Amino acid sequence: MRDLSPRPGDLEPIETASTDEIAALQLERLKWSLNHAYQNVPMYRERFDAAGVHPDDLTTLADIARFPFTHKTDLRDNYPFGLFAVPREQILRLHASSGTTGKPTVVGYTKRDIDNWAALVARSMRASGTRAGDIVHVAYGYGLFTGGLGAHYGAEALGATVVPVSGGMTARQVTLITDFRPTTIMVTPSYMLNILEQFHAAGIDPRDSSLEVGIFGAEPWTNAMRHEVETAFDMHAVDIYGLSEVMGPGVANECVETKDGLHIWEDHFLPEIIDPDTGEVLPDGELGELVFTTLTKEGLPVIRYRTRDLTRLLPGTARSMRRMEKVTGRSDDLIILRGVNIFPTQIEEQMLATPGLSPHYQIELFKSRAMDAMRVHVEALPDNTDADARTAAADTLRRKIREVSGISVEVQVSEPGAIARSEGKAKRVLDNR
Ligand code: DLL
Repeated sequence: MRDLSPRPGDLEPIETASTDEIAALQLERLKWSLNHAYQNVPMYRERFDAAGVHPDDLTTLADIARFPFTHKTDLRDNYPFGLFAVPREQILRLHASSGTTGKPTVVGYTKRDIDNWAALVARSMRASGTRAGDIVHVAYGYGLFTGGLGAHYGAEALGATVVPVSGGMTARQVTLITDFRPTTIMVTPSYMLNILEQFHAAGIDPRDSSLEVGIFGAEPWTNAMRHEVETAFDMHAVDIYGLSEVMGPGVANECVETKDGLHIWEDHFLPEIIDPDTGEVLPDGELGELVFTTLTKEGLPVIRYRTRDLTRLLPGTARSMRRMEKVTGRSDDLIILRGVNIFPTQIEEQMLATPGLSPHYQIELFKSRAMDAMRVHVEALPDNTDADARTAAADTLRRKIREVSGISVEVQVSEPGAIARSEGKAKRVLDNR
């Protein structure tokens, strides 16, 4: 892997500004954002009034804790355009997230929002080691999902050559990577595994591919998965985070030279970590639910938006802005089994540490004699064909899961290809209870 650390002049001044300078900018922008929401969005005016707070009450960043939270249900309740803070005619683009039940959540962007978004994705790509003039293969889905178009505009803003492939037609992805020779790929980590298999199927060694950087996000993935992909492709694997309600991809990104968590682009977003049960703000370093307030968004400002993502805030390293630890999972993905809490990512970590097992897996929850039970479906590696070896791998994984979580689960090791492949966000848990 080549050293892709930034070179002098690569970074924007704000990326290396002092924490005081960043905080001063945040305070100025936060005042604007609270006023903008209060003046132009009836829901925020009603909520602030009901809580007895006014934007003018904010004199320090910590005062944000006096303002009420915003939830995903608020976007649903105001479907489709009720939370927009500008006349609809000034909204140049809509995106929406599907949501498993009911109406999608709709988000809208002004011209300036789209420009800021592109600039932040460009910054994220630069942090990942991508530079102007590189070829960037975008395999995030294009459409209402923010992944494809978000990556696309960012790559153009950076000055890269974009290949807007979108998700799907996996054999063709391999052909295009082989023929166009991109150095960067932007895709969900689970779809990257699918692409990896297609390389093998086509008889092409992925380590011979032109790819040097993968910018992976939109779903949780572990450091064990990073190691898996980096080794398979001989490339850097870097984490990108975001959510449509706050912007889309590019809210936070890892730096290729450190890969130690994701720097939050704090000049545009104010993060907090709260106790998900009490709503109390937690100090940096503690694990809790990530909450964001947008500082510059015109179309859809969000104030204290509860992401449901669990992580912790850490001090800056490669950049001055604070980092968030790799997301363990959403509170929605937390599996509670017979009183024990476990995330799919914790199972993924154990699986990748078990010889003979592939990274393709799905977790099934079901009832067994009125008790909740879990079955981990995982594929054997293609060269692991021996029945005894497969049984041994299943036993090892079962034992590892019991060691880290205390719960007994079933493990079913299946033939390569048995588990449905992802073309975007993987569905890790099947709840049949
Ligand atoms: O997934 C935006 C995105 C696209 C991010 C491409 C990165 C790359 P939504 O569809 O609104 O937006 O889903 C947002 O996905 O709250 C997290 O639960 C999860 N998520 C996104 N990035 C990461 C990540 C896009 N790097 C939801 N690690 C978020 C873990 C992630 N989870």
